[in-house]
Amino acid sequence: MHSFFHPKAMGFFERELPGLVPGVCVKNLVKIFEPYGRPAVDRLNITFYENQITAFLGPNGAGKTTTLSIVTGLLPPTSGTVLIGGKDVETSLDAIRQSLGLCPQHNILFHHLTVAEHILFYAQLKGKSWGEAQLEMEAVLEDTGLHHRRNEEAQHLSGGMQRKLSVAIAFVGDAKVVVLDEPTSGVDPYSRRSIWDLLLKYRPGRTIIMSTHHMDEADLLGDRIAIISQGRLYCSGTPLFLKKCFGTGFYLTLVRRTKTIQSHRVGCKVGVCPERPSLGTIT
Ligand SMILES: Nc1ncnc2c1ncn2[C@@H]1O[C@H](COP(=O)(O)OP(=O)(O)OP(=O)(O)O)[C@@H](O)[C@H]1O
Ligand SMILES: [Mg+2]
Repeated sequence: MHSFFHPKAMGFFERELPGLVPGVCVKNLVKIFEPYGRPAVDRLNITFYENQITAFLGPNGAGKTTTLSIVTGLLPPTSGTVLIGGKDVETSLDAIRQSLGLCPQHNILFHHLTVAEHILFYAQLKGKSWGEAQLEMEAVLEDTGLHHRRNEEAQHLSGGMQRKLSVAIAFVGDAKVVVLDEPTSGVDPYSRRSIWDLLLKYRPGRTIIMSTHHMDEADLLGDRIAIISQGRLYCSGTPLFLKKCFGTGFYLTLVRRTKTIQSHRVGCKVGVCPERPSLGTIT
């Protein structure tokens, strides 16, 4: 990816369509951890829109978690600004947090709280009354399919279920801006699909930012895809736009030995069994 997205390869940014409402605006964001070190985030400019899922794609160490940590106010930027609903994260974090949800890259769950207690806890933390929190808990348990594990302590859930709970928590309390850092990492294909369904169900009215390593996931879920490498944004746009920029389509190469086919044709005479066709490479 590094050589492909050479800094000179600019121009892979789709023009913004009219009518989109910006949910999160990242402006000239820089994060340097060590003095004089290479920036983890390097003059990043990107807008995430309401009613959309933006897939934030990039290799290990690209700066995804660092960016998302600054967006959610966990880390201060070295320079640059992040605006959520027009408010600066650095100065108005208390107001912003009310409508902000986060699923961190590594689950942060309370070992001895049950699934239901987690949702109740976070709903009340976001300002819901006991009654409202209970209603929300029932809805979330239903949507996530976790209702049959409602009384299970988090420490006894499988890794995939813990991840699902972490994703669900990010949406609790009517969060309008939801940041998900690799929500499907370490999750089996079946649970991954149910997390996808959950994200699509919860998308209306929200600005969802989801980091991932999976191109298929970005393609399927992302209304927009933004690709970051070495702290810099190299392209962003709808999946269709990016396919137009880079895609040459998919080629399926099927390989079968001609000799075998011929042998098969005369197989009854010479008694040769056909070999199984082998799948070639997908390039
Ligand atoms: N607390 C820290 N102190 C020093 N350097 C850090 C710190 N956190 C991140 N980095 C560095 O910043 C760069 C970006 O890291 P980051 O975790 O944001 O990448 P990422 O895209 O989330 O990677 P991954 O896909 O592996 O999660 C890396 O070079 C990393 O070593
Ligand atoms: Mg990360």
